[in-house]
This record gives sequence, structure tokens and C-alpha cells, in this order.
Amino acid sequence: MRLRELAAAGSAALVAVALTACGAGFTTAAAGNASAGGAGAPEAERVFKVAFNQNADQPEAVALTHLGERLAERTDGRYSLEVYPNETLGAQKDTVELVQSGAVDLALVAGSLLENVNPDFVALNMPYVYDSQAHQESVLNDPAITGDLYSSIEDQNVRVLGGFSAGVRSVYNAQHPVETPEDLAGLKIRVMETDTNSRMMDLMGGVGAPMGQGEVYTAIQSGVLDGGENNESIYANLKHDEVAPYYSYTNHLMIPDYLITNPATFGAMSEDDQAVFLEELQKAYEESSALTTEVMTESQKAAEDAGAEFNSPDVEPFREAVQPLLDEKLTTATSRELYDDVRAAAQTTAGTTEGAGR
Ligand code: GCU
Repeated sequence: MRLRELAAAGSAALVAVALTACGAGFTTAAAGNASAGGAGAPEAERVFKVAFNQNADQPEAVALTHLGERLAERTDGRYSLEVYPNETLGAQKDTVELVQSGAVDLALVAGSLLENVNPDFVALNMPYVYDSQAHQESVLNDPAITGDLYSSIEDQNVRVLGGFSAGVRSVYNAQHPVETPEDLAGLKIRVMETDTNSRMMDLMGGVGAPMGQGEVYTAIQSGVLDGGENNESIYANLKHDEVAPYYSYTNHLMIPDYLITNPATFGAMSEDDQAVFLEELQKAYEESSALTTEVMTESQKAAEDAGAEFNSPDVEPFREAVQPLLDEKLTTATSRELYDDVRAAAQTTAGTTEGAGR
């Protein structure tokens, strides 16, 4: 998979699409195909637009594109999906609002953004709450754990259809390898746009700087930021390795990405079609999961070949440093219970080391 080439080729062509795509709601097959915007939506009466902020060959985009193909087949051409990558429909923060207004049908957004809609989502976004990708995947789509969380924001026009594992996040910077929290002192590190992440980075020893993903490269290059924190794929793919060549495996976060829609959009499908969608979504999690493992390894190697330096600090001091965040953020009975249930489920998947164990 040639991640960088695709990223570069995709973004220019897609800017034009974004300008006409917003605000139109559903796209017909003809319009969808003429836009050439997404990753090849199949013919269908209704083509759901899916907002995605990374490039089209990222695991989740590939899995959603395939989901669209299966959906078209299984609904006899009533529905399919078209993924609009590279923030062409907006940065994640905007796409939550576009889903709420019905201008965009579906969006894939990081859990951090949903904290702004219901703060209880924070429980699934806490540092070190998951021990591995397998642990995260075992709880994310288990209603016995998530309870009413995903339907809790329907009155705010957001329905969570399910969660994807999006890799393990670690810090990287332009100055030096990070071995201890002290090494982060004074370093301005980009985090996703919530106070939780900003406060987390402060506790880890650095200075948290909330920002949308699209601006990070230039901000590091110009010295406004010293670095960021993300998985290896985003690091290599968005070429952050060029401007911040020290990647340190603090493994501090595994923020889920959620597929969200507007309850009215989803409710307009027949119950049978909804069931087909949700069944096929299960397969999309599996496909994305397998690809994620593959892509992270490839990306690490690509960044290393391009000159980046990877190191593996002892994560314990970082884990200890963020402990105050638990009391500060898990302030409701629901969020505390969720957090405890996720931790309890770690026992079941104990021994699985892929993901957070690198
Ligand atoms: C990951 C994650 C995205 C998120 C991004 C970010 O790529 O999958 O959902 O937007 O990180 O750091 O902004």
C-alpha cells in the first residue's frame, strides 16, 4: 500500500468535491460517481456520504468502502456508501455538526469529539484504559459494556452506529527522544480538541496544544508546535516524521473512532435494511482491525527508512503521571462504571499483546 502517494494524489482532486458536496444531504448514484470524490461508490438509489479526515487507503476507509459495496448488493441497490476522505467535508469537529444538521449522512469521528456532546464518552477515551487492540475491540461494540452510551445523544441528533479501533497513540517531536515525563518539559505537543487531551499532555510533562489534524504538519514545521501524538500510520502518512523525527512509544491513548449518523437518516431505512447495514458493519470492524495491525507495522518501517528514530520508554512513569485525570474526568456514576467495566474486561483479553504492547 503506497500511503503517501495516494494521500498526495487524493487531496487536490477532492477539494473541488467538498465545495459542492456539503449541504446536499443524500447523493444520487450519478452525482456520487461524477464527483469521483470517494473511494468508488457502487451504483445505488441512495449513496450515503461518509466524512472521513484521513486518506482513502486508511484501514477504516477501505473497510467502509467495502461495506458500501456489500450494502448495495444486499439491499438490491437501494443503498451504498461513498467515503469522502482528507477532510474534504470538513475537519472532524465540523462533520459532527454536519451530521447533526443532516447535511452529511455519516462521519467517522474520534471519541474525543463526542465528549463535547456527552461528557460520559470520556470513559472510553482515558489514557491507558485499554491494554491492547484486542481488549479495546472486545468492549467497543459490546452493549453489555457500552449500555445506553451510544443512544444517549440521539436527542442531539447523533446516533453512534459503532466504534473502530484506531491504533495506539504515542508522542513524537522535533527535539529529542522522550524517555521520561521530564523529557517532555516545555514541548508543545498537538492533541485532539478536548480539554481532556490537553490536560493529559500537561500531566504527562509536556504542554498540550489542541488543534485539528490538518494543520499539524505546518505548525511543527514553522516551530509553533514541537510535535504531536498519534499512531504510526498518521505519523508516516501525513509526513510528520519529516518535521518531528523522534517517535517515542508512550502508548498512552487508544481513542476509538465512531461511525456516527443522524437518527433521522438511519431511521429512513427500513428495519430490514438497517439490520443489513449493522450486520455488514460488524464485518467492517474486522476488516479494519486486520488492516490496522498491518498498516501500523508498514508505517513504522516507512518512517524509519525515511530517517525517523523510534524508542520505547518505560511507560509506567507516564501512566502514573496521568492518574489525576481519572478523578478529574470520571465525575459521573455512568462514566466511572463504564471505565471500571472496561478495565474489568481487560482480564478476559489478558495475554494479548498486539497493539498497545509495541
Ligand atoms: C487518528 C484518528 C482520527 C483522528 C486523528 C487526530 O487518526 O483515527 O479519528 O482525527 O487521529 O489526531 O486528529
